[in-house]
Amino acid sequence: MKIACIVGARPNFIKIAPLIAEMARRAIDYRLIHTGQHYDYEMNDKFFEELDIPVPDINLGVGSGTHAQQTGQALIRLEEELLKDRPDLVIVVGDVNSTLAGALAAAKLNIPVTHVEAGYRSFDRTMPEEINRVLVDHIAEFLFAPTEDAVENLINEGIDQSKIHFVGNIMAETLLRNLKKIKERKKYKEFGLKPKEYAIATIHRPENVDDAHRLREIIGAFSEAPLPVVLPLHPRTQKRINEFDLQSSLNRSLIATDPFSYLDMLSLLSDAFLALTDSGGVQEEACLLHVPCLTIRKNTERVTTVNLGANRLIKGERNSILSAINGLVENGVAPWMAPLNWDKQITKRILGILEANLHLKTEVVSI
Ligand code: UD1
Repeated sequence: MKIACIVGARPNFIKIAPLIAEMARRAIDYRLIHTGQHYDYEMNDKFFEELDIPVPDINLGVGSGTHAQQTGQALIRLEEELLKDRPDLVIVVGDVNSTLAGALAAAKLNIPVTHVEAGYRSFDRTMPEEINRVLVDHIAEFLFAPTEDAVENLINEGIDQSKIHFVGNIMAETLLRNLKKIKERKKYKEFGLKPKEYAIATIHRPENVDDAHRLREIIGAFSEAPLPVVLPLHPRTQKRINEFDLQSSLNRSLIATDPFSYLDMLSLLSDAFLALTDSGGVQEEACLLHVPCLTIRKNTERVTTVNLGANRLIKGERNSILSAINGLVENGVAPWMAPLNWDKQITKRILGILEANLHLKTEVVSI
């Protein structure tokens, strides 16, 4: 039994790390295929190094482009790769363009697809990730859901219940396995900050950064916040800041930096007073680390974090952002419980189910 794991972008690397480690421990015959969607050192290699992910067996060098270019190139090159060394199962994670290309290439070759992080829905089809999620879930054979609401979404879409497995959130396993390193790092010291006296912000979604007015409002709010804001810049955001001439809005209380590595980011997040974000992963990571989160989006597929009281959706307008931050500074927020099954057992659950269904013979290798 041969398994191909397909990754392409930063959030994929975080999600595949514990799965790869557990497959190696069980001596499962796997290959890691990288589409090359993310390629900069800071968006790519740094994550592989820090999360101990082995160098991919192949990198298809797809790179950036329009959605059709990126997904199409990945599809063509992945098909060639899967034909060359035909696996018995393909695993894809998350919702990026490489996830869709991997699932589609495999499904068309009649190779069963496993989707880790199945069932998340924002119900907003203007988001490219939403299109990717829906399509992947409808061609996958094994759907591993992170939350109970994700299971419900899949059932509501008429997906055969025997394919759906509620295993919990794989991102939580990565975080919990790295928690000691995250807590020891104290990255805030490098910026002369004190724990729980600053905010960490990430912003990269096209709807927030591709519109000059919107980006100006968001950056303006961050720079006027009543506490320092650390803002690692995604390459897309950096490009737009230059294009829209917003460099001058970055003042001393808004600390704009290059993108952080996984451990640096999680260290800054775990010691922050609050998180401001439009990323999916940060909403979940803040929830697990008990850091309140304000999400600058109209909707979220991470509804569990909102229902628990860990996360709130806010408008991408200067006044809305500032009044939400001020509200948290003045009133704080009630503590919340960690979501069900967000623990260190996700990969064991996933591989247990695959073993039972595919007669995947594995032996645990001691390392
Ligand atoms: C992708 C995912 C998004 C995820 C994000 C995390 C899709 C549709 N979107 O968005 O869900 O939250 O990754 O980062 O797959 N760029 C670089 N260097 C890189 C990678 C990208 O400079 O290594 C720049 C390029 O200008 C590129 C732009 O960033 O055009 C966008 O990259 P792309 O991979 O298309 O999407 P992301 O915005 O990163």
